[in-house]
Amino acid sequence: MAPPSPFLSLLLTTLLALAGAAASAGSGRWDVLDAATGVSAMHMQLLRDDCVVFFDRTDFGESGLPLPDGKCRDDPNERAIQHDCTAHAAVYDVAAGSVRPLMLLTDTWCSSGTVTPDGVLLQTGGFNDGERAVRTLRCCEGCDWEENATALAVRRWYATNHVLPDGGAVIVGGRRQFSYEFYPTPDTGARTFDLPFLRQTRDAVENNLYPFVHLNVDGNLFVFANNRAILLDYRRNAVVRSFPPMPGGDPRNYPSSGSSVLLPLKPSGTEAEVLVCGGAPAGSYSQAQQGKFLRTLDTCGRIRITDEKPAWEMEKMPVPRVMGDMLLLPTGDVLILNGASAGTAGWEMASDPALAPVTYRPGGDPGSRFQLQAAAATPRLYHSSAVLLRDGRVLIGGSNPHIYYNLTGVQYPTETSLEAFSPDYLSAESSSSRPAIVETTTAPPREVSHGGRLSLRFTVGALSEAGVAVTMVMPSFTTHAFAMNQRLLVLQLAGNTTAGHAPGPTPGPAGAAAPAAVYEVEAVAPRSPSLAPPGYYLVFVVNGKVPSEGVWVRLSLPRP
Ligand SMILES: *[C@@H]1O[C@H](CO)[C@@H](O)[C@H](O)[C@H]1NC(C)=O
Ligand SMILES: *[C@@H]1O[C@H](CO)[C@@H](O)[C@H](O)[C@H]1NC(C)=O
Ligand SMILES: *[C@@H]1O[C@H](CO)[C@@H](O)[C@H](O)[C@H]1NC(C)=O
Repeated sequence: MAPPSPFLSLLLTTLLALAGAAASAGSGRWDVLDAATGVSAMHMQLLRDDCVVFFDRTDFGESGLPLPDGKCRDDPNERAIQHDCTAHAAVYDVAAGSVRPLMLLTDTWCSSGTVTPDGVLLQTGGFNDGERAVRTLRCCEGCDWEENATALAVRRWYATNHVLPDGGAVIVGGRRQFSYEFYPTPDTGARTFDLPFLRQTRDAVENNLYPFVHLNVDGNLFVFANNRAILLDYRRNAVVRSFPPMPGGDPRNYPSSGSSVLLPLKPSGTEAEVLVCGGAPAGSYSQAQQGKFLRTLDTCGRIRITDEKPAWEMEKMPVPRVMGDMLLLPTGDVLILNGASAGTAGWEMASDPALAPVTYRPGGDPGSRFQLQAAAATPRLYHSSAVLLRDGRVLIGGSNPHIYYNLTGVQYPTETSLEAFSPDYLSAESSSSRPAIVETTTAPPREVSHGGRLSLRFTVGALSEAGVAVTMVMPSFTTHAFAMNQRLLVLQLAGNTTAGHAPGPTPGPAGAAAPAAVYEVEAVAPRSPSLAPPGYYLVFVVNGKVPSEGVWVRLSLPRP
């Protein structure tokens, strides 16, 4: 047979290239939200009642959002401007699409947070006059920050917080802080607890800040810093196990910011797996200081931290990424987005934005777990963030690689826009599979205790053969590529879900479309606060691969 003509082979090549382009265009959808935010979302948290609190720092210079009622902040100790009439924090109301400025008094730069069992944002640390601050914020009309600038025992800048089974917060590390503390302060009055692991994992450029902290199912804290991890019994201040170092030896924490999630917890509640993805290779920071941006890491490590002999399983991402955010979707898949494919975290230190997110399917076969998604138009580099919304979209904001607000005249301008990424499960093609939870009450969010029953009525066009699951997500405090407190629990179902056919709505008038059947599923809330600390969760019914909108459920404080 004659070889294909040059024309034919060119055609083939073109067709193959087109096919490749179509595949890499990926799924999901991006929308720029019509919200005049003016503030760059360095930190973000979704609170009950669907308000998103976002803020940057008080020493960025003037933001684009005026403080309300002509208010100004006068602070002689402020680094950028001492008389500032602009806001550095705001609340985004998801339903209304509106933005309300907040008055922040102390500097929140590179701070951290949790949410209390009552749904109040508890936010700690920062820089300058904010380094020992504890701030609280409720989601309600007219509510604003309440701040105590001296409530922490020591300064905490680049620390990581985690909510504890008793509803309190642990604040771990921070720059040159090799310790942790609790808020509120325990009854014993003890303020700080040494954590030498943070000293041991520090390298020349401190690639162990914002450590990845996850609450293990046994109640201990998994703490990952640089390329190593321990299990910490924070009550006894004892390291109960050391995990093998992550293969490859490259650092994964700020400024080599990779990211990490605790993978979905199964109903048994006896196993836990952690996934760490991306980062910047050793040496990236010093190279970037000389203008050379190294290619970032394209590897993930996955480890079952409850195993007798835990070992890292390494996987390769389709896109190398530093400063990526990892978010758990209601389906239990992981969305990895934002960040860059060259450089590292830090001022002016990255290029080659990683515009296309990828999803990771934890239950998939190794080698086929990643799927490339549609690319964003807006680079989201240093100081960007993302949170899951109740409707299943992901809200993206921030990006400011500059010391000040530089909206023009720079390659990667300071971003104050908010965007939403809609995963494929929100597409029109999925609509017949999308369950809708039918609330029987418009009363305040429901409350359930550990081990209690949660009954959910829902409608759906077509039940999936893969069955129905109920998942429960604790919303994250996201900053610097880490979503603190994030956890997803797959709930145990009680009884017969698909056959649990609750009375349907009364038939409509003749000729009207048939009313959808109403199903009922009964799920069991996690049995222990180590599995699920008290607080507000989003509960989703997932039909095959398609989740409903979530409903807010408060998991009550365990009885003493
Ligand atoms: C701030 O916190 C400290 C430490 O807990 C406490 O002693 C002080 O009374 C608090 N200040 C205010 C105004 O609440
Ligand atoms: C960034 O903004 C600051 C403060 O307004 C300004 O001094 C600086 O020149 C700007 N940088 C660039 C590159 O435009
Ligand atoms: C459970 O569902 C199956 C399949 O729909 C049905 O055959 C069975 O009768 C149901 N069992 C109960 C107890 O409802």
